[in-house]
Amino acid sequence: MKKIILVAGATGNLGSMISLALVKRGAVVKALVRKDSDVTKSSILKDAGVEIISVDYDDIEHLRKACEGVDCVISTLAGLTEVILDTQKRLLDAALSAGVKRFIPSDFCTDYNALIPGENRNFDLRRAFKEYIDKTKIATTSIFNGAFADILQYNTPILNLKNKTIGYWGDKADWKLDFTTVKNTAAFTSEVALQEHTPRDLHIASFQISPNLLSEQIKLITGQTYIVQKLGEMDQFSDSIKLQRASNPSGEMELYSKWQQSQYLYSMYSTQHSGIDNNRYENLEWTSASELLQSFL
Ligand SMILES: NC(=O)c1ccc[n+]([C@@H]2O[C@H](COP(=O)([O-])OP(=O)(O)OC[C@H]3O[C@@H](n4cnc5c(N)ncnc54)[C@H](OP(=O)(O)O)[C@@H]3O)[C@@H](O)[C@H]2O)c1
Repeated sequence: MKKIILVAGATGNLGSMISLALVKRGAVVKALVRKDSDVTKSSILKDAGVEIISVDYDDIEHLRKACEGVDCVISTLAGLTEVILDTQKRLLDAALSAGVKRFIPSDFCTDYNALIPGENRNFDLRRAFKEYIDKTKIATTSIFNGAFADILQYNTPILNLKNKTIGYWGDKADWKLDFTTVKNTAAFTSEVALQEHTPRDLHIASFQISPNLLSEQIKLITGQTYIVQKLGEMDQFSDSIKLQRASNPSGEMELYSKWQQSQYLYSMYSTQHSGIDNNRYENLEWTSASELLQSFL
């Protein structure tokens, strides 16, 4: 029998790719959208065979009905407390009440389990949701993908295309960073959702690359030299982020405030996957660092 998968946040970047990856794998896909959701994107999903369910996330009974008969709920919601905690909890409660057996929360990030609470605001929200869901009976799987590899093209301190520099902190020029493309994350998540049982946590990476290796790859592709430069010590970085945060209270209301982006970089240089689960599914193809870099360099 075909599996029925419900995707929340389905018109978003990751949610839409997961929905399409599930259709490709023969699942029955139901997409939760809101009245403000992007109509063009929900039309694309509808045309691909996804059932669109328009919900108000405050309407618990409607949410419960949408969850009836569903094998697994995938949340790809993006937001702050009211989304990652409040809305996601309502979705989980509805799934539990409808008897759904499996839930994939909107983690899709660096594995925060080994990180110190308080160092990354967005991870703290995920940690709080984890505490809630782990007290329930639903079988939960978090997917940790490091950073979306696609960010490499957006002039971050890790790879500054304008200045041709690659930044690192502490003694971490050879520290491997975990990157996964959104497409690879979506394909892997769809496979996870279609299984009966999966572990609590799964780790993936399209590629793992250090600042020095990144520089070597770029040299091979473009012939150009990107300078690998130390941007400071890790504790200095941490202190400067705390200062940035304290002096920018309006950033508390922004999902990707500047200091939150710095917190993400700090996390990537603080923890890394000790093992990866890429080979769980034989049919997946992973984008290499070289392929990704060639797509925009
Ligand atoms: N590891 C990384 O580097 C990285 C980078 C970016 C994102 N992420 C994570 O990946 C996941 C998906 O992110 P994304 O980039 O796909 O985000 P996105 O494109 O912004 O989509 C998120 C979806 O969340 C839903 N949403 C937003 N506000 C909501 C609200 N108030 N109530 C209910 N639903 C709301 C919307 O769904 P509808 O409009 O369809 O209802 C939206 O399409 C998140 O966990 C995000 O943190 C990870």
